[in-house]
Amino acid sequence: MDIFDLVVIGGGPAGYLTAERAGHAGLKTLVIEKREFGGVCLNEGCVPSKTFLNSAKVLDYANHAESYGVNGVGKATVDQKFVVERKNGVVKMLVSGIKGQLKRNKVTMKVAEAFIEGKSADGYIVKAGEEKFVAKRLMIATGSTAVVPPIPGLRENLEAGVVMTNREVLALEEIPETLVVIGGGVIGLEMASYFSSVGSKVTVVEMLNKIAGPTEAEVSSILQKSLERKGVEFKLGAKVTAVEKDGVIFEKDGKVEKVPAVKILCSIGRRAVTQGIGLENIGVNLERGAIVTDDTMRTNVANVYAAGDVNGKIMLAHTAYREAEVAVNNMLGKKDIMRYNVIPSVIYTNPEVGSVGETLESAKQKGLDVREVSIPMTYSGRYVAENTTLDGICKLIVNKATNTLIGAHIIGSYAGEFIVSVSAMIDLEVDIENIKKLVFPHPTVCEIVREAIFQI
Ligand code: NAI
Repeated sequence: MDIFDLVVIGGGPAGYLTAERAGHAGLKTLVIEKREFGGVCLNEGCVPSKTFLNSAKVLDYANHAESYGVNGVGKATVDQKFVVERKNGVVKMLVSGIKGQLKRNKVTMKVAEAFIEGKSADGYIVKAGEEKFVAKRLMIATGSTAVVPPIPGLRENLEAGVVMTNREVLALEEIPETLVVIGGGVIGLEMASYFSSVGSKVTVVEMLNKIAGPTEAEVSSILQKSLERKGVEFKLGAKVTAVEKDGVIFEKDGKVEKVPAVKILCSIGRRAVTQGIGLENIGVNLERGAIVTDDTMRTNVANVYAAGDVNGKIMLAHTAYREAEVAVNNMLGKKDIMRYNVIPSVIYTNPEVGSVGETLESAKQKGLDVREVSIPMTYSGRYVAENTTLDGICKLIVNKATNTLIGAHIIGSYAGEFIVSVSAMIDLEVDIENIKKLVFPHPTVCEIVREAIFQI
C-alpha cells in the first residue's frame, strides 16, 4: 500500500486547497473525489449561480436601457439553454484550472469514493475504489448536501423532476412559467432573483417572518422590497406542509393555502456529509451530524482534520479556504488558528448584499457599548450615476470602547466586491481616526465606507 503524508477526502474548496497547499509545502498528498473536482461550489453552487445571475443582470440592463438613454434595445429575453451551456463552459475552465494547480503542486488525484477502514501502525487505511492507501494524516472535506425534510410529497416530486435542489436548478434548460421557492435563504433568494428577471412568476415561501436569515433587518427588508418590485411574491411566516406535482401547500396564520408551481426549488439549508465514509471506524466525534473541530481544524482523533461544510460551522467556500490553510499550517507545525468573527458574506442578488461582523442587535446582545451609523448609498456619486433605483444603504457598527469597527451591512451595487475592505479594518482593529486617513479612489461605490466613517 502506498503511504501518503496526507490523504484528503473530498475535492471541493476545503479539499482542493488543503491538497494544493500541502503539496506546495512538500507533503506527499493524495486527494480523492467521488464526483468532480471543485465540489458543489464550482460545479453546482457558487460559480454556476453567478453565471446565471450575470445573464440576468445583462438582461435587466437591456430591459431598462432607456432609463440610461439607450434606445432600440427592445424587449430582451434570455436563451436559457445558452445560459446553461455558457455556465458549463465556465465550470469546465475553472475545474481544469484547479486540476492544473493540483498537478503543479505534485498532488495525486483520484476519482473514486473514499472509505476509511481503520488504522494500522503506519497510519489510517483509506479504500478508494479497488485500491487502498495509508495516510499519515487525514483531511475530511466531504462537504454538505441539500436538506430534503420529510414533508409529504417532497421526495417523490424531487424524484419526478418537479422539485429541484441547487443541483437541478443550475442545470435547468427552460424557464418555468411559475416557480415556487421553499426557503427564503441565500440559495432561494439568488434563484428567485434570477428566475424573476428572466420571466418566471416566482413565489418564495419562508417559515420565518423575514428573508435572508441572519442578514441585518433593514438590509433584509430593502432586499425584499427590491425583489418584490421585480415581481417576486413572498409568503412569510408560512410553513410548507405538503408538496404536490403542481404546487406547494402551506399554512399561514392558521389558514391553509396552495400556490401553483410548474417547478419547485427546495432550498431550506444544507447538512454535513458524514455518513458512509467510515468516520466511525476511527472514532471521529460528531455533533448534530457535523464533525467537531477545534480552532486548528483538528478533530478529536490524532492527525485527523476536517474543514469546510462538513464541520457545519459556516457553510461558505471562503470559510473553507481559510480553514484549509489553517489546517495545513498546523500539520506543518506552524501556529495558526481559525477565527470566525470576521467572515464576510455576500448575497449576489441584484442589488447585492455584503455584510460582515456584528449587527447592532447582535452586538447589544453581547453587552458591547456600540453605535450604528447608517447612510444612504446615494452618498456615493458613482452609485447615483449608475443606478435608477437608489434605495441602498450602508451601515457601520462601531465599538465605542475601542473606537474600531465591528460590523458592516451594505446593500447596493458592488457591495460584495468591497465588503472585504471593511473586513480588513475590523480584522486589523484599525482605529477610526486612522481609517479616516485612508484614500479611496473617486468616484467609486466603495467610497460609501469613507462617507459613513466620517458620520461617526
Ligand atoms: P439557508 O440556511 O440560507 O436558508 C434556508 C431558509 O429556509 C431559512 O430562511 C429557513 O427559515 C427556511 N426554511 C427552513 N425550513 C423551511 C420550511 N419547511 N418551509 C419554509 N421555509 C423553511 O439555506 P440555503 O439557502 O439552502 O443555503 C444553504 C447554504 O449554502 C447556506 O449555508 C449558505 O450560506 C450557502 N450559500 C451561500 C451563498 C452565498 O454566500 N452567496 C449562495 C448560496 C448558498
